[in-house]
Order: sequence, then C-alpha cells, then structure tokens
Amino acid sequence: MSDFSGTTFDAVEVIRTKRDREELSDGAIDWVIDAYTRGAVADEQMAALAMAILLNGMSRREISTWTDAMIASGTRMSLPAEALRGRPTTDKHSTGGVGDKITLPLAPLVAACGAAVPQLSGRGLGHTGGTLDKLESIPGWRATLTHDEFLAQLGEVGAVVCAASDDLAPADKKLYRLRDVTGTVESIPLIASSIMSKKIAEGTAALVLDVKVGSGAFMKDADSARELARTMVALGSDHGVRTVALLTNMDTPLGLTAGNALEVRESVEVLSGGGPPDVVELTLTLAREMLAAAGLDGVDPADRLQDGSAMDVWRRMVRAQGGDPDAALPAARETSVVPAPADGVLVSLDAYAVGVAAWRLGAGRARKEDPVQAGAGVQMHAKPGAVLRGGEPLFTLHSDDPERFARAEEALVGAVTIAPEGSRPDLAPLVIDRVDG
Ligand code: URA
Repeated sequence: MSDFSGTTFDAVEVIRTKRDREELSDGAIDWVIDAYTRGAVADEQMAALAMAILLNGMSRREISTWTDAMIASGTRMSLPAEALRGRPTTDKHSTGGVGDKITLPLAPLVAACGAAVPQLSGRGLGHTGGTLDKLESIPGWRATLTHDEFLAQLGEVGAVVCAASDDLAPADKKLYRLRDVTGTVESIPLIASSIMSKKIAEGTAALVLDVKVGSGAFMKDADSARELARTMVALGSDHGVRTVALLTNMDTPLGLTAGNALEVRESVEVLSGGGPPDVVELTLTLAREMLAAAGLDGVDPADRLQDGSAMDVWRRMVRAQGGDPDAALPAARETSVVPAPADGVLVSLDAYAVGVAAWRLGAGRARKEDPVQAGAGVQMHAKPGAVLRGGEPLFTLHSDDPERFARAEEALVGAVTIAPEGSRPDLAPLVIDRVDG
C-alpha cells in the first residue's frame, strides 16, 4: 500500500481494476507510474497491468492521464524562442518500418525551409532499423549531446537528431523494455502514450506522425493504424502540440536499401537531388506537412532539395555532431547476390522478410545492448512494378560474416511474388490516409 496525493493505492487493486474492465482513476494512474519508476511497483506487477491494458484497453481520459504521468516521470524540455532564432519547431515520428531512412533527408530539408527540427530518436530493435544506428555509421558522428549543445545546434543549424537523455520520460524507457519481453508491445493505448509522452516532453510545437501499415509495421491493417493515429493525434491536441498523422504503406520496404550505412548512402542521394522515387515522395510529403503544421506554408521543399540547400544543412548537421560528411561510409566485408527466380513482373516484395534478412545479416539487434554492423543489410535491385529477368540480381546481401548469408536467404524465400510478363499489378499508394486534429 502506498500514498499519493492523499489517496492510498495498492498495486494488486490497480491490476484487478483493469483486469475486471473498469476504468483506472487519475490518482491510481499517477501513483502506479510514479511507483513503478521508483521501483516500488515490481516488474511482474507492471507486466500484469500492461497485459490487462492490452486485453481490455483504456478510455481517452485514461490514455491522456497515463501519458501525463509518463511525461511527469522525467523532465519536460524547454526550447526557448530566443535560442531558436525565430524558427518554429516541428518534428516527425515514424512508428517504424523497413528501409525507413526518411528522417535523414527530412530533418535537414525542413530546416533548410526555415523550421527547427528537434528530433530525439531511438535505436532499432528487431526487424526495424533505428535512426541513431544509421547515423552512427558516419565516421565520428555522436548521438549524445548535452542540452546546451542541443539548443545551440538547433538555433545555428536548424536540425538535431540525437539520443534522448535518460531523464526524458524514464517511466516509458522502463515500461517499454518490460513490454518488449512480455508480449505487451501491440497495445494501441500503450504505443500511443509511449510515443506521445516522449514527443510532448521533447517540447516540439508541431508534430507529424508517419503511422506505418503493413507486413513490416507494428500495425498490419489500416483500421488499427487509423485508430493508433487518431489516439496519438488526440493526445497531441490535448497537450497543445499541433499534430497530424499520415498512414503510409509498409507492405514493401522504403527505397532500395535496408541497413545502416546503405541507408545513409541512399539518403545522401536524395539530398543530392536523386534517390528512389518513393523515398523522395515520402520525404517531400512529410516535409510539406511539417512546414504547414509549423505555419511555414510559403516554401516549397522540392526547391530546397534541388538547389542544394538541404544538402548544405545535412553537412552542417553531421559536422556539428562530430561526423565527417565527406568520409567514406563503412562497407561490409562480404556480399552475396540472390538472383530473381523467374522472368516476369514483380508484384510484391515483402517488407517484413527484407527486415528479417537485414537483421540476420547483422544490421539489427536482438537485445538492446547488442552491437550492429554498420555495413550490413539488403540492397534491392527491383521494386514492385519492375520487370524481372530470371537469374539477374534481385538482392545483394551485405555482411561482415559470410556464415550469415544462408539464414538471410532463408528469410527471403517467398518474399516476392512474380506475375507473367505483360501483367499490370495493382500497386498500393504510398500514402493511404491522413488524420488531422
Ligand atoms: N515506439 C515507441 O516509442 N513506443 C512503442 O510503444 C512502440 C513504438
């Protein structure tokens, strides 16, 4: 039994309440999050509560209070206007996908259009990659900044992508680790409060959510993705953050690469005015949303890609964090080519299979503390809609350990569907829906 704001709560009673499909009071939520962060509620008790929430859900009020309590477990960052030199803040968060390197060209592009992008990012776990892992493949680049360094870079360069400090929503860090090993990640109230507590605590005034839908995403169907998007948009609006969400396709990987240095190289191609069309399209679409949410409608980000100003900001952003934008990116020691099995038209290329293959090659980690190989990953030579010739390269696998190739190839068995030559496959649009506050 413990006391919080004059009321007494008991962890077992809180668990029973949610188990029996009743609503938790604000006081009970504040107490359980605070007590769990301090270690007064045990992991097994929080695991039982998370499972009860996954099974029985939460009301909008409960989700909002839960999010507030996670923000209050740490420090809410302030981004003083004078430090930002008049730039409005705007950020993007993706729920995670395969080949999703969009933050890399997007943050400097939006900064080149006059906004400040204060992005606190994470590392990858499982088959989806993490933005920090990708950036860490740039020689010298460091993910950790002090708050003063963060603010100075935001004002001078306009974009920062770095690791969140330990004090940003610490309740979420502890709870996310627990959910990861207790089968309780896939709960819309828990995902929404986890993502939004960190984004609200980060202090951005505007936020664009890229909610991925499909085989390579948490949300496998559009209805659940829409519900997650609506929940997060409502949380943002309740907390004074102008929030919009796009539902985007993750049945097929983004771009032609999945893996850390491979994705940095592709992002630099986009910043040079080239790159795969889907990566360019999503970068520009999200940039327009971020700028509109920040009240900067008059600038066309396509111009800033073409005139090199986004590339200039990228170079300054990399240098400000100790990286060398001109250094050669690490390459894997070994490569292995997987040929197309037949002639025909590529109809589908499964994102999950490519994500697992990249992970098995060493690009991802199974546990938080595992190292990643900077050069490992999968390079795709075709995307849905392309004409294939049997025997020609379909994938190139990259890894420092050639013994990983067989398991990666196993993951790719059945990853593609091929229709007879002359077929016109129905290709899904990249942007599926938009949810506004
Ligand atoms: N990303 C997060 O930050 N939290 C979740 O719960 C899921 C994805």
